[in-house]
Amino acid sequence: QKEIISLAKITQFRSAVEEFSPFEWYKHQLEYEPISYHEETNSWNVFRYDDVKRVLSDYEYFSSERTRTTISVGADNEAGQFGSERVNFNSDPPEHRKSRSLLSAAFTPRSLKLWEPRIHEVVSQLIKDMGDEPVIDIVNSFSSALPTIVIADLLGVPSEDRFLFKEWVDHLFLPLPVDNIEHVQELKRQAAKDYYSYLYPHILAKRNHLTDDIISDLIQAEVDGERLTDDEIVRMTMFILGAGVETTSHLLASTFYSFLYDNNHIYTEVQSNRELLPNTVEEMLRYRFHIAKMDRTVKQDNNVLGVELKKGDVVVTWMSAANMDKAVFEDPFTLNIRRPNNKMHLTFGNGPHFCLGAPLARLEANIGLGLFMDHFQDLEPVPDFKLEEHLTPSAAGQTLASLPVRMNRR
Ligand code: HEM
Repeated sequence: QKEIISLAKITQFRSAVEEFSPFEWYKHQLEYEPISYHEETNSWNVFRYDDVKRVLSDYEYFSSERTRTTISVGADNEAGQFGSERVNFNSDPPEHRKSRSLLSAAFTPRSLKLWEPRIHEVVSQLIKDMGDEPVIDIVNSFSSALPTIVIADLLGVPSEDRFLFKEWVDHLFLPLPVDNIEHVQELKRQAAKDYYSYLYPHILAKRNHLTDDIISDLIQAEVDGERLTDDEIVRMTMFILGAGVETTSHLLASTFYSFLYDNNHIYTEVQSNRELLPNTVEEMLRYRFHIAKMDRTVKQDNNVLGVELKKGDVVVTWMSAANMDKAVFEDPFTLNIRRPNNKMHLTFGNGPHFCLGAPLARLEANIGLGLFMDHFQDLEPVPDFKLEEHLTPSAAGQTLASLPVRMNRR
């Protein structure tokens, strides 16, 4: 049972709105407290680009094995745990290599090519389902639906069961509140249990009917002569859900928010010049992905960051702040879709744990936004939009629970 470190105690944001756009806080931390010790949570907090990158990648000093963590994703019961050395991403090389290689089998460039038309299909259907409504909630009908349906499809789950997935993921991702924590833990445990009992028989059946999906890839994956058991495959997919759904939803929702409220010229500009789209997605990952933070535990006493770190200390890396470090990004607080080096952002991490799903997330965003632009001439904010009424806390920070948009069709 891990102790959860409260990020809210560290940031002390005055409102959800401030947390959703924490630029001033980043600016202050980068300038005045780039490496700071936070007493109440007993954690070190690191903000500058080089330091964040170092902590994420240098596993000799900074371990992914944790007893205290900022990550409250998942459930604390048997069904919610990794459970074996072949499925354990809270580990360092060389142990980590086995889990990573096995899961990589499902995320090859070949898989990606096969998935492309399927993502197209999912997006087209979502757009069709929007009908002729003049105002739609982009979160409900697009940004949160897309990654869930895509992952369910890639796992090979029948389409009629997709709404179940959404519910499990929502529950597994509930933030741990200050009060009534046991109630939320129970929802998470139940979601993990339900998911486990749903998927297990599904995998048994798949063994006799291998197709082009993630479960079939995981069934066939082999490292050092070892293969995954059915139990391990369920846990592996639960981990993928945890890592890939909420994150991609957040990226898409924040991108639309940016189109409407950060710079309302970008949408039409990219629409008429589609070559700008991939770089626009990267800039959104750099500029508007404020739930990017990770932690590591100090493995041996060291001074590699210029402060005395003791074995067992927890170091929180603020990737979204590092993405605003002027040492790397010129004029960092300006949203610039033509920025030449924005792919250097640390939103997908760095080093041995670099996000395995990054190519998929990028693909979903590029196909999703591209098809959207084919259908919708322009977007407009709705009158009297109040951001604070649309935010909700998630395990990783403030996310949009809804985002009404007025659509102008072609
Ligand atoms: C790891 C971010 C989407 C699967 C990571 C890490 C980050 C990250 C920061 C590194 C964690 C660490 O250093 O400990 C994101 C963001 C996404 C995204 C920002 C979307 C915008 C996805 C998707 C999938 C996925 C779509 C799969 C469907 C994974 C996996 C790992 C991972 C399996 C663990 C890799 C390892 O520990 O070796 N992700 N992710 N992610 N991500 Fe993603």
